[in-house]
Amino acid sequence: MSDVIILGIESSCDETAAAVVRNGREVLSNVINSQIDIHKRYGGVVPEIASRCHIEAVNTVIDEALEQAGVEFGDIDAIAVTYGPGLVGALLVGVSTAKALAYALKKPLVNVHHIKGHICANYVAHNDLEPPFVCLVASGGHSHIVYAKDYLDYEIMGMTRDDAAGEAFDKIARVLGLGYPGGPKIDALAKEGNPHAVEFPRVKMAEGSLDFSFSGVKTAVINHIHKLDQKGEEYNKADIAASFQEAVTDALVSHTLEAAKRKGLKQVVIAGGVASNSALRGKMEEEAKKLGMGVLYPPPVLCTDNAVMIASAGYFEYVSGKRADMRLNAVASLSL
Ligand code: KG4
Ligand code: ZN
Repeated sequence: MSDVIILGIESSCDETAAAVVRNGREVLSNVINSQIDIHKRYGGVVPEIASRCHIEAVNTVIDEALEQAGVEFGDIDAIAVTYGPGLVGALLVGVSTAKALAYALKKPLVNVHHIKGHICANYVAHNDLEPPFVCLVASGGHSHIVYAKDYLDYEIMGMTRDDAAGEAFDKIARVLGLGYPGGPKIDALAKEGNPHAVEFPRVKMAEGSLDFSFSGVKTAVINHIHKLDQKGEEYNKADIAASFQEAVTDALVSHTLEAAKRKGLKQVVIAGGVASNSALRGKMEEEAKKLGMGVLYPPPVLCTDNAVMIASAGYFEYVSGKRADMRLNAVASLSL
């Protein structure tokens, strides 16, 4: 089969991204315009500002992605775009741009589910990875355990009942005064702390459930800090960060490995922004090894939002014949 070159576009949250990927696995370019510096003033993503920033950046980001890849619009076989889930106004910028390009260039348009994109980042990072495997997708908006039966066939085995893991990281970082986004800040500070300094509660789900709940641990950490504040006691932020991270990663690791056990699989992958967490990676590897399982994850730049993962997922959809038309719309909440 001749090469398939996909232009991917991603704008579901606060990164405007475009990338060119060959045959679903080979990165020709990866351009990401992050809005973090703008949103951090507000302590989190402001949807209206995100949409406007996407509009300002999207054309330049696409031009750069083509230039860095050394290709022209004529060389592209299809355009893949994230259509959900995410912030609807932000998604609309990518979707409208992709539709306009597909129409003007007479190129096929492929709509991509953001979470499937996160999973596919692993196909790019590990060229010989093939399904089936169990994937933990943990980001600012999602915490899912997904059984990837095939390139296009996914089954959700567990998900969060309340906050996403990354959302909890961001919230606790804010309470500790570390700034936004909180995940990398907690990750770094926790390295100086004792993960067993405070035993924050682990939620026990009903028998057999692989779902997560992070709102309990989040509230426990906040209450712990408030109590110490009220008593005027000094506290070690690094110990709190490490103990909180320990509670969250315990749940993520144990449920993911249990899912792999149930499916009789020896292959576990992780994806999404939280997959760059060093404690999560370390613990997953250590515990998986005890069970004779292997763990794979992408480099940090492919864990957080990017368009390489969208172009990769778009490739597998494209070769299977999936196409979107000019009626494609952004969908804020979308099941897998
Ligand atoms: O995948 P992503 O870029 O966006 C969503 O699809 O949500 O994930 C962003 C999330 C943020 O909540 C951020 O705090 C978290 O990923 N994150 C981390 C780390 N790096 C990013 N969480 C824990 N440890 C990290 N090193
Ligand atoms: Zn994401």
